[in-house]
Amino acid sequence: MHHVKIIRCATPEEVGKRAADMYTALLQEKPACLLGLATGSTPLPLYRELVKRCEAGELDFSRVRSANLDEYKGLSGDHPQSYRYFMNTNLFDHINIDKARTIVPDGLTSDVEAMCEAYEEKIEEWGGIDLQLLGIGHDGHIGFNEPCDTFVGKTHEVELEELTREANKRFFNSIDEVPTAAYTMGIGTVMSARKVLLVATGKDKAEIVKKSFFGPVTPMVPASILQFHPDVTVIADEAALSLID
Ligand code: PGA
Repeated sequence: MHHVKIIRCATPEEVGKRAADMYTALLQEKPACLLGLATGSTPLPLYRELVKRCEAGELDFSRVRSANLDEYKGLSGDHPQSYRYFMNTNLFDHINIDKARTIVPDGLTSDVEAMCEAYEEKIEEWGGIDLQLLGIGHDGHIGFNEPCDTFVGKTHEVELEELTREANKRFFNSIDEVPTAAYTMGIGTVMSARKVLLVATGKDKAEIVKKSFFGPVTPMVPASILQFHPDVTVIADEAALSLID
């Protein structure tokens, strides 16, 4: 068991700033790094801060590569709810990254196995993930790795839990439009990253944050595996840490 570093912040904005500091440090040390990126509401203050620092000339993404955690099955990259679209509009369009060096699983693939394999190979070819960003689902999912009987190692297709579809329906017109499946990096892909940064904000995440980092390690709480990762930082606000002393 490793020590998980926890950084307590007053607000989600401060979470964004403290998280951005890790990127500032990493880009200074390794300008051609590979970032593992995530979607969701929680990373947004971080992405806004990265854009701000890039505009101010403090960050240079020109040599950076990125690999996203997951994508909905059946959505094309220009669908407004696809994770490719999210990344473009919330980050990539506003920083000096070369989009050709950013990858997101292909939601429209006709050959799932080949797409997933190629995704893993690309990450390897690019030297492995230096810093993997994660949000956390209310059920403990990371990426779209849902609670399950076993940890699945590599990039693969998953059926989405109802709780997850419910949580994400706010972005769609109705629950029927929320895809029922997705492609996600596996737990092994995430665990191979040299560093992991998990961000969590809001009272509704307090219970799962406690369970993940202070409860038993089990595939029923996918994020709990991070207790075995040697370099994990959790940056969270007071609300998300309210059940942890
Ligand atoms: P959220 O999503 O940041 O929108 O809460 C987190 C997740 O489901 O991984």
